[in-house]
Amino acid sequence: MYAKFHSIGAYAPSKVLSNKDLEKMVDTSDEWILKRTGISERRIAGDGEVTSDMATIASDIAIDRAGLEKSDIDLVVCATVTPDYFNMPSTACIISDKLGIKNVQAFDISAACSGFVYALSVAKAFIESGMKKHVLIVGAEKFSSIVDYTDRSTCILFGDGAGAAVISVTEDKSEAMIDIHASADGSYADFLVTPAPGTINPVSQRVIDEGLNFVQMKGNETFKLAVKTLTKDVKDILAKNSIDSKDIPHFIPHQANYRIIKAVGDALKMSKEQVVVTVGKYGNTSAASIPMAINDIYESGRLKKGELMLLDTFGGGLTWASALLPFAGETK
Ligand code: UT7
Repeated sequence: MYAKFHSIGAYAPSKVLSNKDLEKMVDTSDEWILKRTGISERRIAGDGEVTSDMATIASDIAIDRAGLEKSDIDLVVCATVTPDYFNMPSTACIISDKLGIKNVQAFDISAACSGFVYALSVAKAFIESGMKKHVLIVGAEKFSSIVDYTDRSTCILFGDGAGAAVISVTEDKSEAMIDIHASADGSYADFLVTPAPGTINPVSQRVIDEGLNFVQMKGNETFKLAVKTLTKDVKDILAKNSIDSKDIPHFIPHQANYRIIKAVGDALKMSKEQVVVTVGKYGNTSAASIPMAINDIYESGRLKKGELMLLDTFGGGLTWASALLPFAGETK
């Protein structure tokens, strides 16, 4: 029993927040943002549009492209750190309901930007153990709900969006996901943190006054660790599977900062054509970033059936993960 990456779907809200817009909100400039991050604009969810809404649209597309009925899905996993509700119910439960999927196991994963690849590892394990046949995995974020738009060090980075994939059982080894590495180090928890709400900081006037409900990041420290960890991670997974970086047509790294992507791509001696970059138009969409990037190359016709993808991600926790897998869906 193997697990294959069967289909992809994504959704980006229509509202655009450009660098020029941000110039009017904080002390920054289009030039600084572009030079330091590669980001030109990001998408922001509309009024009343929540994480599960974006996730449901992306999921609908992914299920349709897999040629399946909703009733074929037997597990729903949503990776998000901006859930509809911070305590319960899980966003996966809401997505299942909005899709009309009844009586399935559904739960969320909290691994920040690494969430989608973590969800991929869960889907792989459930399928290879024979417990499930068609797993819907979603990475969806409404980061605009936890960003402080007076903090120039974070508000320029993040955007909203969703991506989803169906992971299905196969007996054909040539379609199978090859390998996934996922890891974490909680001693760096303070590098990327939303201090409230939670048991340490339950909702209170102090939380509001001190803005503890907003994301905080040690940007420069995170940047340096990201480059080091991502580079080692991809080198390890390639070496373990005896694959040369030149034989990877699609390197799809987490889209946090173009400088990080370029540094890792260069360390792997990847050409520009191999490295997928969407950070310029979407910013950092956390758990949604990798599936949105996969969807981009799928929709543009760049991603063909059977081609190898190398995923690599890093985020709050700190967490990181990489995956090596062929695209087992039909070419668009
Ligand atoms: O997705 C999870 C993983 N996340 C990441 O990997 C994000 C990693 N971090 C980054 O992408 C970068 O660290 C940032 C883009 C956040 C910041 O870039 P940096 O090159 O690390 O800049 P810095 O934090 O070292 O700040 C340099 C200067 C500072 O001014 P001084 O102290 O040199 O006078 C900042 O105050 O840039 C200033 N600065 C800004 N200036 C204009 C910080 N943000 C801005 C801004 N506009 N938006």
